[in-house]
Amino acid sequence: MMSVQMREKPVGVISKLRHLTREEIAILRPRIAISEYMTGFSRRQWRRMKAIVAYTRDGKLIGFLAIIPINRYWNELGPVYILDEFRGQGWGSRLVDEAELLLVGKGIYVVSHNIAMQKIMEGRPGYRELSSFWQLDLFIVIHIIRTRGEPEVICMLLAKKVLELTAQASDRTWLRQPST
Ligand SMILES: CC(C)(COP(=O)(O)OP(=O)(O)OC[C@H]1O[C@@H](n2cnc3c(N)ncnc32)[C@H](O)[C@@H]1OP(=O)(O)O)[C@@H](O)C(=O)NCCC(=O)NCCS
Repeated sequence: MMSVQMREKPVGVISKLRHLTREEIAILRPRIAISEYMTGFSRRQWRRMKAIVAYTRDGKLIGFLAIIPINRYWNELGPVYILDEFRGQGWGSRLVDEAELLLVGKGIYVVSHNIAMQKIMEGRPGYRELSSFWQLDLFIVIHIIRTRGEPEVICMLLAKKVLELTAQASDRTWLRQPST
């Protein structure tokens, strides 16, 4: 008989949506600085970011998932970061589940070229994946609106676009439509 293996949700504590604390940023910043898929954030970006944060029951930081409002209908999920020692245990996936509960009825936008994050999004009910033509343009437009054209971010985006065009990088984008 065929059996379907369901991975249990990891046990811990997930915060409400809030700003990261100084202590959390102090732990995350040096790790993110050397992370393969992330470039790090400016002081202002850290200060503005709102996220849900995961902790073990005995108070160790596991990671966070930022939820960035784009407008009253749409929110971007990400950046997401799980500390190395907690990866591959379902925490990334659990944070996305929790964010979906917070964003019932709202549109969700996710873009990532991290394979683990892509696995988290693949096959999630309610989403459609964008084609590469749309994802590049939408990515840039949304980020320009979101950052009000901050030069630092625009430079990063242009560099990223050049890299994508030359290296065929594998960003993938998912959208969940808002329901009205
Ligand atoms: C992306 C990230 C948040 C995923 O978190 P995680 O807690 O390890 O993810 P999960 O344990 O929920 O695993 C999700 C899926 O990815 C798979 N996976 C995990 N690590 C993987 C890897 N290195 N390569 C391929 N697949 C991987 C898991 O097997 C799982 O798939 P499954 O459900 O089919 O078994 C984490 O790897 C991370 O923090 N990376 C560094 C930061 C980053 O790059 N963030 C994304 C860009 S914003």
